[in-house]
Amino acid sequence: MSPPPGRYHGSNAVLRLLARFERPFSSWFGGDNSPFHHLGALTIYFFWIILVSGIYLFLFYDTSVSGAWLSLEKITHEQWYLGGIMRSLHRYASDAALITMILHMSREFLRGRYRGVRWYSWFTGVPLLWLVFIFGITGYWMVWDELAQYVAVATARLMDWLPIFSDPMVRNFLTNDTVNERFFTLMAFIHLVGLPIGLVLGVWFHLLRVRLPRINPPRTLMAGGFLALLALSLAVPAVSHLPADLGIVPMELRIDWFYLAIYPLLDASSEGAMWGGLWGLSILLCALPWLPPLQHPPAAIVHLPDCTGCEFCAEDCPYGAIEMVPRTDGRRFALEAKVDPALCVSCGICTGSCPSSSPFRKQQPLRTGIELPYFTMDDLKRRLDLAARRAAGPGPCVVLVGCDYSVPVDTLEEAGVAALSLPCAGMMPPAAIDYLLRNGGADGVILTGCDAGDCHFRHGDRWVTDRVARERMPKLRGRVSRERLLMSWHKPIDTSGLKTAVGAFRKRLDELPDNAPEQPS
Ligand code: HEM
Ligand code: SF4
Ligand code: SF4
Repeated sequence: MSPPPGRYHGSNAVLRLLARFERPFSSWFGGDNSPFHHLGALTIYFFWIILVSGIYLFLFYDTSVSGAWLSLEKITHEQWYLGGIMRSLHRYASDAALITMILHMSREFLRGRYRGVRWYSWFTGVPLLWLVFIFGITGYWMVWDELAQYVAVATARLMDWLPIFSDPMVRNFLTNDTVNERFFTLMAFIHLVGLPIGLVLGVWFHLLRVRLPRINPPRTLMAGGFLALLALSLAVPAVSHLPADLGIVPMELRIDWFYLAIYPLLDASSEGAMWGGLWGLSILLCALPWLPPLQHPPAAIVHLPDCTGCEFCAEDCPYGAIEMVPRTDGRRFALEAKVDPALCVSCGICTGSCPSSSPFRKQQPLRTGIELPYFTMDDLKRRLDLAARRAAGPGPCVVLVGCDYSVPVDTLEEAGVAALSLPCAGMMPPAAIDYLLRNGGADGVILTGCDAGDCHFRHGDRWVTDRVARERMPKLRGRVSRERLLMSWHKPIDTSGLKTAVGAFRKRLDELPDNAPEQPS
């Protein structure tokens, strides 16, 4: 079976543009610490700041219509050094969470990580999007200032367009005397209790099919994010408008365009148009994974005669597609691997995890415990042999093993350098590196793929790095000379960066003493 065509991300114009935009951040922070590689985790981190600052505000907040504004004024001005900063942190972390969430969603979309078996994470993300907006809007409502008044009246108009309330909601906001105390307390309850619980449950559902989700950003990003919010809080403290007065129409409002842009839009259109737009957008977003349905490559398959039930593949699968079940073939092992095709994204990482994935084995055709039907272990061995033969030439010969989602490695072939591309760098079994250097006659091996911390299949770069460092099973054998192996992670547009790395590596190999490319075990 042939591999799916045209998967190189380096050839997609939108992704090239995205990579161009993100590349400076990877250079400044390092790939592992780039904010773009941790947008989901950053969103969660900002929610932590919102939670802690929110709890502090709640200690001093008065949930009544008459006391809300004044209690916030006291927090802001009488204890600006703590309460005021907490209020600003609360507001700016909310804006930051919305920004990182929208960027996270856009990035998953642009990188195509929302279709096929990944539909679930996308689909469960859509309600989260609206939940976060409602969270922010109810937050502004609780200040009960002129902005809150504007938001409340416009929301009531919007809700009354739907035939769900027997008493029009807008009646609550006709005069200062008609503002319903119980209704206001209900809004506070929704903001303080209902929405946080809904959000926690929503994120839990959202991450159900993602194995080992990265829910914490690196410490440097946490520290940087917090300091940026703190600096903003000190420079531009969050303050209220004048207290709400339903007797007058507020004239000058400072709109938070992140959360409240919908209201000026409502002023410029109509309630019907607004609902039409919101429902239309929601339906479109929910349907996107199937527009059009993805022709997904086939799922991994298990060969029981080569599976010892070691569980490594189940531990490494980034989408939890492998379940270990009781043995069905009567062999002495307790368990065997079983793939759920509805969860498998065909990344091949499991082939890299399987101790049976060894090109040194004499079996014909070569099999392993688990492999992709369109890129079997036998295919891999054949391509490694071919690449090693092609690489032979003047100077050190290097086999460059890349992935389909990063730099197109075949463009870097030249005398002494041969390339092959895998669905994911995590598919490369450590034994195959050993094989290239011992049997294949390569002087060096380069493993390359998506930028550090940004693997298209989430964990490929991490697992292969850990296996080479002998910190994860199956480990690279101790006899393999580390000087003859380079791991170099790049954005898909960074062909020149990879080319430079290849050149420098070959030069280094050339300077090595002319001995066999291996060390005693
Ligand atoms: C409260 C807001 C959200 C939070 C906290 C959040 C958080 C996360 C986290 C932590 C991950 C796992 C990242 C990893 O370990 O690789 C993730 C994955 C994902 N998120 Fe979100 N997310 C949110 C909203 C959204 C929205 C609105 C969408 C799109 C509608 C979305 C789409 C996705 C997709 C498609 C994945 C899976 C990517 C893959 O298969 O590799 N998320 N999210
Ligand atoms: S191909 Fe990838 S997603 Fe499928 S079972 Fe293997 S590791 Fe899991
Ligand atoms: S890694 Fe290989 S041997 Fe181990 S359980 Fe998976 S298929 Fe079986």
